[in-house]
Amino acid sequence: MHRIAVIPGDGIGPEVIEQALLVLDKISSKFGIKFDYIFIDAGGCAIDKYGVPIRDEDLELVKKCEATLLGAVGGPKWDNLPGNLRPEQALLKLRGGLKVYANLRPAVLYDELKDSSPLKREIVSKGIDILVVRELIGGMYFGPKGREIRNGEEVAYDTEIYSVSEIERIAKVAFEAAKKRRKKVTSVDKANILESSRLWREVVSRVAKDYPDIELNHMYVDNASMQLVKDPSQFDVILTSNMFGDILSDEASMIVGSIGMLASASLGEGSIGLYEPIHGTAPDIAGQDLANPVATILSAAMMLRYSFNMEDAAKAIENAVKIALKEGYRTRDIYTENCKLVGTKQMGKIICENI
Ligand code: NAI
Ligand code: MG
Repeated sequence: MHRIAVIPGDGIGPEVIEQALLVLDKISSKFGIKFDYIFIDAGGCAIDKYGVPIRDEDLELVKKCEATLLGAVGGPKWDNLPGNLRPEQALLKLRGGLKVYANLRPAVLYDELKDSSPLKREIVSKGIDILVVRELIGGMYFGPKGREIRNGEEVAYDTEIYSVSEIERIAKVAFEAAKKRRKKVTSVDKANILESSRLWREVVSRVAKDYPDIELNHMYVDNASMQLVKDPSQFDVILTSNMFGDILSDEASMIVGSIGMLASASLGEGSIGLYEPIHGTAPDIAGQDLANPVATILSAAMMLRYSFNMEDAAKAIENAVKIALKEGYRTRDIYTENCKLVGTKQMGKIICENI
């Protein structure tokens, strides 16, 4: 029995979560494993119900589960609230509360969706299947920052600080992930210039010694951003810092097409992971059975892989998505000529049937 905190949220959140749960139910019966869903209100719906983006007792409840599956939160209805009462506050509280330091974002280009990549056919023909492992709670975004007057003019500064233990733990996540993939880690830094990157490189090389089966190479971030568009097929796992990962993971997700296809996992101490699609609540299409549920379904697959060590079940879901695409089923966001246009519910149902 696995306890999962389920947070549907707002807009299309509940619609895509519903389909992900149907997929998990199917996995449950196929693989003989039970899931216990604890439903939690967070975001705009919690503001409407309780006056806060997420209640403290609900946050505690989340911490008692093994994993969290989240739809998305927010929407125009709550846009004019003060900062500390906005729906996004729920996300920050969840990420902070679960201490999730590793953000994993797969960027997979499905054969059937090759035309939706902005890259040339000859480049994408070799396939794209990248996992970006980004450090999430350290580095430049969390280092000392400020403004002051120096020599009579205003200066501002941010500081990149990484400790050995921070680098070690994120490196381990990347190497463990690579074990289950094509066994290659590319660590991205700026070690020709930055001292923090030189430490990053040293520590990653040291951690690599515990993973003799994994190939490690180092790449400067400026080169990595070029290589991503020049020859993305060379990458398996990209391991990088908070700021470089922010930029590179957006670049990686763009080269594979629709936002409705992209999943993510944020992992922390122990096994409490937070799994969510990278898209938001899509108020423009909410409640119309138009949302693509694949990003959330693939996030559930990541949950099985990383929180429950159920690689076979994760693969079964990913494969079921591939079959649905191969058979020509498309939600509106990924629709191209001569395909079969389906809604949220039907897409979910077809994926379930393919498991
Ligand atoms: P968005 O990701 O919700 O939508 C951007 C565009 O992509 C829209 O045209 C939408 O229809 C489309 N889209 C998104 N997901 C889709 C799916 N599964 N299937 C088909 N089409 C999809 O981003 P936007 O519009 O900037 O934000 C809308 C609301 O969502 C805002 O309130 C924002 O704060 C919130 N948001 C929440 C996030 C979260 O909970 N993690 C992340 C991003 C935004
Ligand atoms: Mg970003």
